[in-house]
Amino acid sequence: MKQRIEELLQEIQELKAQKLQDIEEYRIRLLGKKGAITKLFEDFREVLPEQKRELGQKLNSLKNMAASKLEELKEKVEDAVQQNAPKFDFTKPGDKFDLGTRHPISITREEILSIFSKFGYAVAEGPEIEDDWHVFGALNFPPEHPARDMQDTFFISQSDNPVLLRTHTSSVQVRAMERMPLPIRIVCPGRVFRNEAISARAHCIFHQVEGLYIDKNVSFADLKQAVLLFAKEMFGEQTKIRMRPSYFPFTEPSAEVDVSCNICGGKGCNICKGTGWLEIMGCGMVDPNVLEASGIDPKVYSGFAFGMGVERIAMLKWQVKDLRLYFENDVRFLREFETVI
Ligand code: DAH
Repeated sequence: MKQRIEELLQEIQELKAQKLQDIEEYRIRLLGKKGAITKLFEDFREVLPEQKRELGQKLNSLKNMAASKLEELKEKVEDAVQQNAPKFDFTKPGDKFDLGTRHPISITREEILSIFSKFGYAVAEGPEIEDDWHVFGALNFPPEHPARDMQDTFFISQSDNPVLLRTHTSSVQVRAMERMPLPIRIVCPGRVFRNEAISARAHCIFHQVEGLYIDKNVSFADLKQAVLLFAKEMFGEQTKIRMRPSYFPFTEPSAEVDVSCNICGGKGCNICKGTGWLEIMGCGMVDPNVLEASGIDPKVYSGFAFGMGVERIAMLKWQVKDLRLYFENDVRFLREFETVI
């Protein structure tokens, strides 16, 4: 028996395990019901009394040795499993990611729309790729009008009704008049395209918001009131407006609207070039020809329209004078608008 104990001690010392299953097999082989050590304990009953003390001690320490070796192997295997597992520290804060900011043109457009929505104007949109009829024809542009010239307009195809990139959002008022039930009260935001060389003061893409109100008995006084209320909301309660006679093919009479300079309060500064006034939009009473072209009876209905450049309004609000900055998406420029959202 002594020899058998020595053999087993030796064997136990040399045990190695890759996985928990190996260790379970060793346990069964050594300490299980029919295991080698269990078997020795059974044989122990037959041992001569004078040998019992010595062998008993050896046997007990063999059993303890086996148990602690198995425990040790188990820890090693578990450590190895841990080591190979992906190392996550769930208590660490997550990676910081930079939030974008609203673009100043989006901020301005939203502000314009929200002011008009308070006055009861719905938002209407139309296609950027348009036809000649909706951009020019229905808006009373005579066939020889210079705005149809290749210099100004990006044409996509030539035909009786050429396809082109819209040069203004006034095309959306035509689509609205064709489809919407009367009365109509809408603002139409969108991108417009003109064949211009890019500079600080001109760009081939920019944004406009068009407005249209058609009902019975709409007068120029209503137009003036709408524009004044808008200007006060946009530039401050103290803002004044003035209207200068102008010409657009689709309105009669037509006017250009100036607001009192919000920088110098009308005294004259370099922003308003000493005049005290800043131009913000074109407007007028919808020409009867335009109503008729879209199937509205000008004897029953009248209306006004206005159109403003979003970049222009943004420039006046923030004195960012180089149009190109609005299109380059330089984050250093965009971050300057973080606080105005
Ligand atoms: N469509 C004009 C432009 O692009 C702006 C405009 C002027 C719109 C007068 C109007 C208006 O509705 O009545 O320059």
